[in-house]
Amino acid sequence: MTTTEQLETIHAVRAEFDGVFTWDYARSRPSLIKLYEKAKTSQWNASTDLDWSLDVDPERVAQELGGGGTVRFQALAEAENSPVKHFGPKEWGKVGVELQNSLLSQFMHGEQGALLCTARIVETVPWIDAKYYAATQVMDEARHVEVFARYLDEKLGYQYRINENLKGILDDILRDPRWDIAYLGMQIMVEGLALAAFGMMHMVTTEPLLKKMLRYVMSDEARHVAFGVLSLQEYYKGLSAAELRERQEFAYDVACRLKRRFAHTEMWERMGVDPDAVYRTMDQVNPPAQQQFQQLLFSKIVPNCKKLGLLDAADGWLRERFTEIGVIQFEDWADTGEEYGTLDEVAKDRAAS
Ligand SMILES: [Fe+2]
Ligand SMILES: [Fe+2]
Repeated sequence: MTTTEQLETIHAVRAEFDGVFTWDYARSRPSLIKLYEKAKTSQWNASTDLDWSLDVDPERVAQELGGGGTVRFQALAEAENSPVKHFGPKEWGKVGVELQNSLLSQFMHGEQGALLCTARIVETVPWIDAKYYAATQVMDEARHVEVFARYLDEKLGYQYRINENLKGILDDILRDPRWDIAYLGMQIMVEGLALAAFGMMHMVTTEPLLKKMLRYVMSDEARHVAFGVLSLQEYYKGLSAAELRERQEFAYDVACRLKRRFAHTEMWERMGVDPDAVYRTMDQVNPPAQQQFQQLLFSKIVPNCKKLGLLDAADGWLRERFTEIGVIQFEDWADTGEEYGTLDEVAKDRAAS
């Protein structure tokens, strides 16, 4: 690789923030202590806990994606002036394979975002229990980047570059000097959505390597989202309505951009179709499978925002926005601050063996 090529593989985000020491080593936050203990015993090894010798058929994996895959786009073919009107079974089969690569590639990039954001939290959070826990999450995220990159390289053959919406979100989180914004952007929003998306993929796939990989990644992600909920719940109790309103606006902005990232701009470009034409048709047709998929992505975010007091703070500003985009019905679903203990598949496998 030449120096220019090497530089092209690097993306730097400039930020000004305080690296914070605390001299208060007293263990004072029982919920974070419990989470940290769980994280230490539920570590797994991507090299030995997954069977990388398994053969993977990318076309079969793609077919199984169902509602999370091509089904939510196929209805577009019937629309007038649809850019995919000419697509037959061959093209849709290719979309399925591309979509699978695109999804897993964005997961991989998002995981690297989580790695950087959580390393940031280690530096910026002022509580010792949170620094301890965040250090375990840094290890988890390294493992997640590792497994997605390896699956893409060894089983699917290539990777997509990062989606612009996702990149913009990660850059904004990393640029912000406020420690709670790293948590809100990453643990609550990006990881909350990832947990829901992994759950949907895990439910439909029968490919054994991907299935086990997702089960294990989800066990870790549930703790990460819980880390956000348990930390911010305490901190947000002390913020003013104006400060909470800023957080609501930030969360909503991230939510809108996360929704767009699942439109897979890069995949449509690769298929030789203008992504803007796809979005216009999507708005026009609004297929039920698409609506349902997009709503389900919010099934973790909404109850967690409620638990943080963000739905109803500042005259219920965020409640109104979530009502407008049709996701408020999830508000009373289980929040991850409680749910993470039941999602530990690594511990379950160890107890069974
Ligand atoms: Fe992760
Ligand atoms: Fe995570």
